[in-house]
Amino acid sequence: MKQIRKGKVVYEGFEFEITAVFDEADERLPAWEADAELAIVGNPVPRIDGAKRVTGAARFTVDVQLPRMLHAAVLRSPVANGTVEGLDLEAARRAPGVRAVIGPDEAIGEGASPLTRTPEFVGEPIAVLAAETLPQARAALALLAPRIDALPFEVDLESGLRAQRFTSDPVESVRGEPNAYASGGDVRVELELATQFHIQSPLEPHAAVADWQQDELTVWISTQGVFGVRSELAQRFGLPAAGVRVIAEFIGGGFGSKVDAGTEGILAAELSRRARRPVSLIFTRHEELLAGGHRASTRQRIRLAARRDGTLVASEFDALIGMGARGGGLMPMVHAPAVSAYRSENAHAMRFPVKLNLRPVNAFRAPGFVEGTTGYEQAIDELAAALELDPLELRRRAHADRDQGADKPYSAKSLLACYERAAELSQWEQRDRLRDGAHEDGLLRGLGCATQLWFGSSQPCAATVSIGADGIVTVVTGAQDIGTGAFTIAQMVAAEELGLPLDRVRVVGGDTRPNVHGPTSGGSITTASITPAVRAAAASARRALLDLAGQSFEIAPEDLVLRDGRIRSADHALDADYTDLTRTFGNMAVTGEGARTLPSQDYSVQTWGCQIAQVAVDPGLGRVIVEHVWAVHDVGRIINPLTASSQAEGGILQGVGYALMEERVIDPTTGAPTNASLDDYKVPTMADTPAMTVEFINLPDPIASNTGAKGLGEPPIIPTAAAIANAFAHATGRRATALPLTPARVLEALA
Ligand code: MOS
Repeated sequence: MKQIRKGKVVYEGFEFEITAVFDEADERLPAWEADAELAIVGNPVPRIDGAKRVTGAARFTVDVQLPRMLHAAVLRSPVANGTVEGLDLEAARRAPGVRAVIGPDEAIGEGASPLTRTPEFVGEPIAVLAAETLPQARAALALLAPRIDALPFEVDLESGLRAQRFTSDPVESVRGEPNAYASGGDVRVELELATQFHIQSPLEPHAAVADWQQDELTVWISTQGVFGVRSELAQRFGLPAAGVRVIAEFIGGGFGSKVDAGTEGILAAELSRRARRPVSLIFTRHEELLAGGHRASTRQRIRLAARRDGTLVASEFDALIGMGARGGGLMPMVHAPAVSAYRSENAHAMRFPVKLNLRPVNAFRAPGFVEGTTGYEQAIDELAAALELDPLELRRRAHADRDQGADKPYSAKSLLACYERAAELSQWEQRDRLRDGAHEDGLLRGLGCATQLWFGSSQPCAATVSIGADGIVTVVTGAQDIGTGAFTIAQMVAAEELGLPLDRVRVVGGDTRPNVHGPTSGGSITTASITPAVRAAAASARRALLDLAGQSFEIAPEDLVLRDGRIRSADHALDADYTDLTRTFGNMAVTGEGARTLPSQDYSVQTWGCQIAQVAVDPGLGRVIVEHVWAVHDVGRIINPLTASSQAEGGILQGVGYALMEERVIDPTTGAPTNASLDDYKVPTMADTPAMTVEFINLPDPIASNTGAKGLGEPPIIPTAAAIANAFAHATGRRATALPLTPARVLEALA
């Protein structure tokens, strides 16, 4: 019987009340425990859509071409703060090829328009138009000729703090005694450092193609959440949810910057409504770097007090957070590692969300945790030095066996095993020998470690599995594959549960039309959300199939199993190919449905890991080379070790970029980003890629999901920069006070 339940889910640290609809059968399905015999899950499987991706056959939103499609261009603010006094919308309307123009004073459905007459950051949209061709659209933009009164602006964190410019009230988090640092412990350390704005840089820019026909809106959009976009657009435009179809079959990455309809989705839809034509709105690479989003910048002060044996008495963390303009985005959980990563008698954190004339922050892969871990894990290393303890040994001693903040037991935690394996792989005990040895190339070398903490969250999710007369299975998931391999693990889990070969299973997703709900792929929830739903749907389809087999072979269904594509009876009298049964279906199919149940409220479900980095530092040129990163993570059961390793490698590489080169630079005289291009904003390339060794503890967490799997999107990026910074300190004996470790900062630290 179906049930409707309400419960709490955690998404990137924020708690939401949510409704789940599922069947009692979904709840009864026992989890795959550690000793489960699995034929497909746990084996490396190439992506289901790999060939389409590498041959260019995959259709991304930027590839969508519709008959009579118009092309949009956005007028963006050239000033960091100002008022638009004049705008020649009429001139643009008269321009060749122009079919729709929207100014800042016009309503766009319900809610605030993404266009503004009073821009608060460089790049904020003021007007938008659509024309027959992109060159015509761009030419018409110039005719808008905005006259703007520039106003004073603020782009500096410290002076923003002095002026008490906050996007919301500062937030204090206390566990135990707030002033424990002042009085407690035998040893105290204090560390201050700055972290930079960090741009998501997805390969595919923000893009949407909207086609509004009568009262039906179809939107192709590069998004992390088709159902979220559907709700948002339906609500804004007063349409029933079923009147909006959102499609994102292939997505060229989002990294947190594509969790909603965005300006691209809203503006493309409104332009299409007005022009009665399909409209494509694609950010240029410059727009992507200017206005696509970024991770918040921070100034952090960390203070730790410990007893001689390493027991943490006080963990204090204060941060200024560069939130950007207007309300900023969600305040990043920069303090979380300081209050949750280790056992500490007392913890105290303050977060000051500073309002700046910059684009509001949005999510970027482990928002807050990357920033917080980068500072906090360096302070832990400083404490280890002050205690004359090995940094990994201090971390072992500070291990938290229970979630102190939530006051709940952990569902599963193999962090100590991560430390042990990472130390073994990297030959950690040889680290001082590496540092002190003579290197022919004249470089300084060192090893550093850091701990990873992140949520093991999940959300309600549905799936259907149907088996046709040809024996081909179609899995429908409402989730989208943002480039992680999510559809491949859906395929694997369905094949496993059905007992069929992998090549019999196809996956349909990234489309709201079948109305099979999937959550937004953010917060590393996708695997823990879709795999239990797909498994439940496959189990339901298998039951239906065996019921039919029981009828046609006159055997009780409970005496039948489906395995390796064969339907067998307990007494081995029957051993038939499953297609002997399915081919009798005619044009019909047998369909099972399933859903993810609500996550456990009794346990703290988290993911863990340890990364160790080896760096080489050129003391003459100030260059840091990351030579090797060893990553060992505990994210529950690994469904597909191949795509899991890819996730880890991508996360590590983004962490290398954050540690060494990526930084949004703001001109203090204009408030404009000076490096809004991939020429000037450096992301790591092949030549910057370190050797990587990735391993997983691979123990199922049956409380997290019935597959025992948790998410892996964010964990790998979290500790990388901290491990690199700690390796830099180990190699050089100096600590840089700001990221990224560019040659200028390195030379300054070494001076
Ligand atoms: Mo969130 S950065 O979309 O996983």
